[in-house]
Amino acid sequence: MIEPALELQEINSGYKGAMILHDLSFSVNPGESVALFGKNGMGKTTLLKTIMGYLPKRSGAVRLFGKDVTRVPTHRIANMGVSYAAQEQPLFADLSIQDNLGLGLTNESEFDARFTDIEQIFPVFKSRLKQLAGTLSGGEQKMLLVARGLMMRPSFILLDEITEGLQPSIIARIVEALKWEQQEHGTTMLIIEQNVPFALQVVDRYLVLKQGEIVASGEADSAESAETVLRHLRV
Ligand SMILES: Nc1ncnc2c1ncn2[C@@H]1O[C@H](COP(=O)(O)OP(=O)(O)OP(=O)(O)O)[C@@H](O)[C@H]1O
Ligand SMILES: [Mg+2]
Repeated sequence: MIEPALELQEINSGYKGAMILHDLSFSVNPGESVALFGKNGMGKTTLLKTIMGYLPKRSGAVRLFGKDVTRVPTHRIANMGVSYAAQEQPLFADLSIQDNLGLGLTNESEFDARFTDIEQIFPVFKSRLKQLAGTLSGGEQKMLLVARGLMMRPSFILLDEITEGLQPSIIARIVEALKWEQQEHGTTMLIIEQNVPFALQVVDRYLVLKQGEIVASGEADSAESAETVLRHLRV
């Protein structure tokens, strides 16, 4: 039997006085990409923060690549090859594009080797490595965020509403980048999105979260996938 890349078992999690996730269980297989949809406030960001160990699990278990990480601290989860692009702005505005991309890398040759791939996907950064990240446009900052995640050569990518506020041409670039990453490196992905067509293009399978529970799931490329997801997001 293949060990799932990510396995949640009856996770209960939330904040002081407010439980948000209720006995949530699902898994993502190695190399698989899954989209998680849900209306505002349904607990999507809470779920990613719980997986990453920013929020304590009240009960249940999380396993990553077969290892129990329920009580493992965030930095060790990141060291297992998990890249998390948070919904809140996590770039270092006062650092250059180059320094943002190089965070966590150990030397210049590692940077050069990996940037060879990145500059093909996002040519916009090629001649601008010294520009401060804070001076980039909103869309460019989102691209930099995706690029920074890819520079780490992660085994698992978690994305939280990466397309929020972006124009279609930039969204199309990000679709290409993520598909390239899947094909080239077989990277596993869990993608949180409001943009249903974008996410369904990138993933194999979708889940819909409502009041902290999974209420629908299916194959992304089935004829009725978009309609099913949108129906759940309407009601
Ligand atoms: N630090 C906090 N303390 C208390 N409640 C919180 C905290 N952060 C989030 N919540 C509540 O938890 C619920 C789930 O929030 P969460 O951010 O996970 O939703 P979401 O599905 O990501 O929504 P969105 O699509 O708007 O990003 C909301 O009701 C929110 O108000
Ligand atoms: Mg959120």
